[in-house]
Amino acid sequence: MPAFVQAIALLIAQLGASQGQAAGPDERARATEQQMTDDERFGLIVSFHGATGGMVNDERIPPGVATSAGYTPGVPRLGIPALHMSDASLGITNPGYRPDDKGATALPASIALGASFNPQLARDGGAMIGREARIRGFNVMLAGGINLARDVRNGRNFEYYAEDPYLTAVLGAEAVNGIQGEGVISTLKHYTLNCNETNRQWLDAIIDPAALRESDLLAFEIAIERSQPGSIMSAYNKVNGEYAGGNNHLLNEVLKDAWGYRGWVMSDWGAVPRWQFALAGLDQESGAQLDMVNWKAEPFTEPLRKAYAEGKLPMQRLSDMVRRILRSIYAVGVDRWGPAAAVDLNGHNEIALEIARQGIVLLKNDRALPLATDRPLRIAVIGGYAELGVPIGTGSSAVLPVGGYAATIPIGGPGMMEYLRNLLLLRSSPLAELRKLLPMAEFEFDPGQTPAEAVLLAKRSDVVIAFGIRVEGEGYDLADLSLPWGQDMVIDAVATENPNTIVVLETGNPVSMPWRDKVKAIVQAWYPGQAGGRAIAEVLTGKVNPSGRLPITFPDDLAELPRPATPGLGTPWGMPVTVHYEEGAEVGYRWYAQKGEKPKYPFGYGLSYTTFGYKDFRVSGGETVTATVTVTNTGRFPGADVPQLYLTDAPGRRRMRLLGFERLELAPGASRSITMAADPRLLARFDGDKRQWRIDAGDYTIALSRAADAPVEQRVVRLVGRFFGR
Ligand code: BGC
Repeated sequence: MPAFVQAIALLIAQLGASQGQAAGPDERARATEQQMTDDERFGLIVSFHGATGGMVNDERIPPGVATSAGYTPGVPRLGIPALHMSDASLGITNPGYRPDDKGATALPASIALGASFNPQLARDGGAMIGREARIRGFNVMLAGGINLARDVRNGRNFEYYAEDPYLTAVLGAEAVNGIQGEGVISTLKHYTLNCNETNRQWLDAIIDPAALRESDLLAFEIAIERSQPGSIMSAYNKVNGEYAGGNNHLLNEVLKDAWGYRGWVMSDWGAVPRWQFALAGLDQESGAQLDMVNWKAEPFTEPLRKAYAEGKLPMQRLSDMVRRILRSIYAVGVDRWGPAAAVDLNGHNEIALEIARQGIVLLKNDRALPLATDRPLRIAVIGGYAELGVPIGTGSSAVLPVGGYAATIPIGGPGMMEYLRNLLLLRSSPLAELRKLLPMAEFEFDPGQTPAEAVLLAKRSDVVIAFGIRVEGEGYDLADLSLPWGQDMVIDAVATENPNTIVVLETGNPVSMPWRDKVKAIVQAWYPGQAGGRAIAEVLTGKVNPSGRLPITFPDDLAELPRPATPGLGTPWGMPVTVHYEEGAEVGYRWYAQKGEKPKYPFGYGLSYTTFGYKDFRVSGGETVTATVTVTNTGRFPGADVPQLYLTDAPGRRRMRLLGFERLELAPGASRSITMAADPRLLARFDGDKRQWRIDAGDYTIALSRAADAPVEQRVVRLVGRFFGR
C-alpha cells in the first residue's frame, strides 16, 4: 500500500477513536483492514468450536477463553476484539462448555413469543440476552432463528416464531434490536429454507425463486431492514441445488446486492465443504473443526490461503470479508465496551414469565376455565412431569438454567445430535404453582404412566388437568403429531372417565388431539421457559387472561399439508434428501386459504376469558393499504386482543397475506383505535423476470379478522399498479 494511503487510513482510524467514532463504521472498517497483514485477515474469517464436557479445547483457542460455540481471535495491535460467540435464541446456552457458569435465564420457546404477537416482548427478551452475554464476555449472539414454520413436523419450529413472514420479521427484528442495543452483535439464521431437520446437511430445498422472495426471504428482508443485524448465518441445506453457504444467488445477488446488506455472513457449524464458498458470498467459516469432521477439510484455513496465493481468491474479496466483520464490530460497538452492568436475575425471570403468560393460547374452553378459586375442588393433575417442571426444546438452543435442570432424562436417537437429545425439565412445576394459587383445592398427582392407573385418580376428582409433553429438537423431525409414551391414551381414558378434563400441552408444534371432543378445555403452553409453570397456573386460574394467538396452523390431518409425508424421514444420517416446496409462498394459512379448506385451529386463533368488539373499520387504498378500527373490550375481564388485517383476495390468482396486527390491552368497557399500514411487499408479487415487486392495478379485498379464517368485516379497495424495490 502506498505510504500516503496508509497515512490517510491511519488518520481516519485515529480520528474515529479520538472523536467518539466520528468516522462511520464503513470508513473505520476500511481503514483498519488496510493495516492488517494477510495472516490477520485470514485469522478473522474463521471461528473455532469450543470443546464441551471436559474435552480438550482446540489449541487455537487460548487458555482462559470462556468456551462457547465459537471463538475467533482478535488483533490486539489494531484494537480488534476477539469474537466470542454463544448460541442465544432463548437465552445464553451452555451445553457443558463452562462448568463454572452458574446458569442463565431460560426464556420460553420463540414460537411462544410468536404466539404473543408482541414485538415489545421480543425486544425485552433480546435485551435480557444481551445483558447476560455482556457479563460473560460474549459479543456475538447466534440468536434470531427466523426460518418459517413450513412443516408442522420440523423438530426446530420451537426455535422459530411463526409460519408467516411478516410476524416472523417483526419479532425477529425486535429480538436483534434488543440484543444489539446492549452492544452485542446478533445474528439472523438460518438463511434459508432449513425448514426440516431430517438430514439437513444433505437436504436440497427446491423452490420457485420468486415465491421464495414472497415468503422465507421476505422474513429476512424485513427483519434485516428493521434491525441491521451484525451477521447472518447461512443454513446447512442446499437451496435449488447449491448449498446455502455457497449460494451466489442468495448471498451475492439477493442479500448483498439487492438488499444492500453490509454485515457479514457466517456459515452454520460444519457447513462449509469448499473454499469456493468465499467466492459465492460466504464471509466466515464457523466451527472449522466440524468441517474437518464432516468434509475432511477446513476450507477457510489452508485451502483458502492456497487459493489466494494462486490468485483464485481476489484480494478484494478477502478485504471485503474482513471489512464486513469489522464493520459490524464498529457499528454495534463491540470494540467500545465498558464494564458490564450487574445482571438482575429477578428482573430477567419476570421477562421470561411475561413471555410465557402472553404466549399461552387457549384453544378450547367449554366453560371449564378459569378454575373456580372459591371452592374446595378436588383436582387431579396427571402426567407431563408436572410435579417437577416444564420441558424445553433440545439442541444448540437449550439453556442451562440457574440451579440446573429439575431432571435430565436421556432420549437419544440416530444421528449426530443424539448426545443433546434429552427430556430437559426446567424447575417451574405447574403443580406447585397451582397449589399456591388455589389454596382451597385438594391436589393429587398421577404420573400418567398407564390409562388404567390414571383413571383411578380421575374418577375421584372434580377436575382433571392432564399435561401432554413431547421432546422436540434440533436434528430430528416428528414422525407424526401424536404425543409420545401413550399420553394420548391416558388423556383419552381420563376424559372418558371424567368429563371435566382440561388438557395443557407443552410442545413446540401442533398436536393431533384424538381426544379433542372429549375434553372441556385445551391450553397450548408451548415450551414455556423457566417461569412456565407459574404462567400456566395463572392462566388456568384466571389470574392472567389468555391472549396468545396461534403463530402456526394446527392441521386436522397430515394429509391436508403440501407434503403429507416428510421427505427422507427415516433415511439414515448422511442420505441426500430433496424437498420440493411446491406450495411456494403459500405457507400455512395461505395454503389453506388457496385450497378453501379449514384446519383444526387456524393461524391467529386464540380464545380469551373476555370478548372484544370492532367498530368503524375503514380501509384506504392507493399505493398501499391503510386500515383503522376501534376495538372495545365488551366483556367482564381485563384482557388483550390481537386484531389482524389480511389481504384475502387480489387481482389474478387468489391469495392471502397477513398485512398487520396489534396486541391491545383493554380494561372492561375500554376502547382504542388503531391504524395498520401494510408493507406494500405483502400486497405485491415478486416478478422473477423483472426482479422487482409488482402490484397489479385493481381491487384488493381486505379483512379485519379474529384469526386467519375468521374475518369479521371485509372491504374492497383499489390499488395503483406499479413496480418497486429489487
Ligand atoms: C445450529 C446453529 C447453531 C450452531 C452453533 C448448529 O448446529 O444449526 O443454529 O448456532 O450449531 O451451536
